[in-house]
Amino acid sequence: MNSKEAVGIKAAAYVEDGMTVGLGTGSTVYYFILELGRRVKEEGLQLVGVSTSDATTTLAEQLGIPVKTIDEVEKIDLTIDGADEISADFCGIKGGGAALLREKIVAMQSDRIIWIVDSSKMVEKLGKFPLPVEVIPYGYSHLLRLFREKGYEPHLRNVEGDPILTDNGNYIIDLALGRIDDPRALADELDHITGVVEHGLFNNLVDLVLVGDGDDVLVVEAD
Ligand code: A5P
Repeated sequence: MNSKEAVGIKAAAYVEDGMTVGLGTGSTVYYFILELGRRVKEEGLQLVGVSTSDATTTLAEQLGIPVKTIDEVEKIDLTIDGADEISADFCGIKGGGAALLREKIVAMQSDRIIWIVDSSKMVEKLGKFPLPVEVIPYGYSHLLRLFREKGYEPHLRNVEGDPILTDNGNYIIDLALGRIDDPRALADELDHITGVVEHGLFNNLVDLVLVGDGDDVLVVEAD
């Protein structure tokens, strides 16, 4: 079994009957959703899923997991999601799969958050993974220039030469920062730039991390 599969299966055991569950996005969450679908089918597990992307909605519905929109639920009991990097003080980078905006909206409404990752994503300091920033297409070139002037080494994410569009119709600018010494200050700065819709810094939102290393899963409580 690979690490992603191991943590995905383990994460599904945290879902209890009657819960409203935030369903993250990505290749690790894929295994979590597969296992959740199995539990729904074979164990009759009752839950409502709240999806963070069109891809996750499609997968969950294919597996018979009931999905409601975030506006149809009052709150979310538990969200299980992946991450691109997690620092020693439990800040995180997300958005490698371009789903960061819905992931953060779902996270903010969740009572409890579990991230599932393989051990390569546990780092001392964030920043080796480029930080995704979701921006409104209107005026994006000026944001690219601003980030360049700040020395943030921005790259407009594209596929075959065209900017990729998020599920919300926005662009993604990835910042190749190398090392982020103060993720809270950077989040604050990005929160105040007009045209930035959201960024992939998820600082101190996670409660528990399941870290996969082959078949082994380490359970890490966030302080
Ligand atoms: C989606 O936009 C991301 O935040 C993912 O949760 C993150 O990129 C982890 O994805 P993988 O599990 O595919 O590495």
